[in-house]
This record gives sequence, C-alpha cells and structure tokens, in this order.
Amino acid sequence: MNTPHAPSVFGAVHLGYIVIETDRFTDWRRFGTDAIGMHHDDLDTGLMRFRLDDQECRFLLQRGPAEDVVATGWHIDDHATFERIEARIRVHGVPVTEGTPDEAALRGVERLLRFPGPKGITQEIYTSPVKSAEPLRMLASGFVTGDSGMGHIAVTSARPAQIRGYFNTVFDARLTDYIDETISGVKLKIRFLRVNERHHSIAIAAVRGLPIDPVRTRIQHLNIQAATLDDVARSYQRVHELGFDMALSVGQHTNDKELSYYARTPSGFEWEVGWNPVVIDETTWQPTTHRGISIWGHTPVGQTIVDKLDQFRLGARSLAHPEKTVPALSGPGIPDD
Ligand SMILES: [Fe+2]
Repeated sequence: MNTPHAPSVFGAVHLGYIVIETDRFTDWRRFGTDAIGMHHDDLDTGLMRFRLDDQECRFLLQRGPAEDVVATGWHIDDHATFERIEARIRVHGVPVTEGTPDEAALRGVERLLRFPGPKGITQEIYTSPVKSAEPLRMLASGFVTGDSGMGHIAVTSARPAQIRGYFNTVFDARLTDYIDETISGVKLKIRFLRVNERHHSIAIAAVRGLPIDPVRTRIQHLNIQAATLDDVARSYQRVHELGFDMALSVGQHTNDKELSYYARTPSGFEWEVGWNPVVIDETTWQPTTHRGISIWGHTPVGQTIVDKLDQFRLGARSLAHPEKTVPALSGPGIPDD
C-alpha cells in the first residue's frame, strides 16, 4: 500500500502511554496498584499516573466524566520519522496540535503532537520519554515494554476498513492475522495490526455483516504484558480477592499464543494482563485466519444473558450515533483479504 512520505515508518512506532478519563480515582488506584500491581504516583487531586518501567508515565488518569480511554501516545524512535508522520497528517489537511509544556510534562514526554483518531480516541506522538529516577514500588516483578511497546488496545467498530486505512496511512501498520469467532450466535471478525515486532498493537473487532458497535466505551480492552507467568497468576488472584469483576478467566489466544486474563476496570472497559505472546519475524510471517479467540480458557465470568441483551441494545443505539472516523486519513479504507 502506497503512503505519502515514504519510506515506511514501520518498526519505529511503539505504543507508549494511554490517557484515561475517569471520576473513579479511589477505585482506579486500588485496581492499578493493589490488583494489577503497577507503580502509582499522585500528581495532584485531579491527576494520577501508573508506571510499568523506568518511564515516568504509562497511564495518565485525569478527572472527567468519560470513563474511557481518551488518548493513546506513540513513541517514535527518531526526529526524522516523527517529522515524516507529522507531514503525512498535515498533507491530508488534518489538524495537528502541538502539546503544551504542561501536557508533555504530565505524559512524561518531549515533543508532543496530538491529532484526531478513529472512534474519537486522540492520537498523540512523541520522541523522547522522560525516565524516572524513582525506583519502582510495585507488586508485579516487571512488565515487558521496550521495542514491542507497552501492550495493545482493542476496539469494536462498524468501520473496520476505515480504521485499517487510518493506521496504514499514519504508521504503515501491517495486518498480522484475523480471528473469526461466534459469540452467542453473532459472528465477529477481528483484525490484528502491528507497527513493530509485537504481534499487535491494535485489534479491531467488527460484527460481520451488521454495521453495529456493541460496546459503550471507545476501547473494548487494553493489554499490558507481564514479565512472568507468576505475575499473571498472582494479579489474577488479587483482582478476585479485592472484589473487582473478572470478565474472562485465564486462557490462551489462538493467534499470538498469549496466556492472559481480562479484568473489568472501574471505568467499565476491560484490562488484559498477558504473558509470552509470539514476537513477529518479518522475514517469514504470513497472515492467516484463526477460528476462535482461544485455544483454551477465557471463559466469561458472571456474564448473564441479560448482559448480552444489553450489548445488543447498545448496538442498536449505535446505529443512531455514527462512529467517529477521520476520513482524510482513512482514505477509501482497506478491505479484508
Ligand atoms: Fe488483547
């Protein structure tokens, strides 16, 4: 796929931080610190952050009513690549806003740019993360970040071809594979996109043949990668013991082979803690389609038929509220193979 401002930026882009808007700070603090096991820093009454590693900020929580992810930040390896991405956005006539010094400081980054993204999730890019001199204080032994970035986000969409088009234009994202799944008689197709060696940084699920979006929040789940299997097991136990809802029990995915569970965050979207996903070898990888999301496990916990029916009520409502897209960057969209 041709994009302006070649050469490709693939491999130089890494998911770096996530911004969450919530009014449930007490619950989020317990969830992030005591259940998931991350490092926590209070900034002031309206702001807090979680760390996974030596970077100052991996999650920025700011007060507000959205109860959702409102922005994703992408670490760009070098200034030339950063400028290439900026030029791609500007050449399509999409507004780019320079982050203020305050906004950059809150995110613990240098050279911050913000621009509109699919589903109303603001996309942000930066060059240099600020490293913290403070030692990590957290229950987890560690998290895998580095060249793979900090994990992934997953969205549901009625416009999956447009989202693929968007991330192709902006980041030269590649299709890793597909999963076809049937849940409660509804056929889903999930597209997994990568921007570096991580199997996917973005997953896009769509109901086949129906232009509906069954999830209230902009993201369905986000994922972070635990350093050890022990970290997955212990945090699973803590989520349970502290009384947070589990969405899916421990299981293993068909495509990236990651072993994981899904907890429900205080804001309602899900939080996946995973371990040991495959790393992509670009010289040999071929996209395939897997049947079903899991080899084993990932059993829904406590979900009743009433929840399912609620999802379809939301889906029906989504028909009346068209999904936010960025047509100038999505182009005609990329249809599935
Ligand atoms: Fe995931």
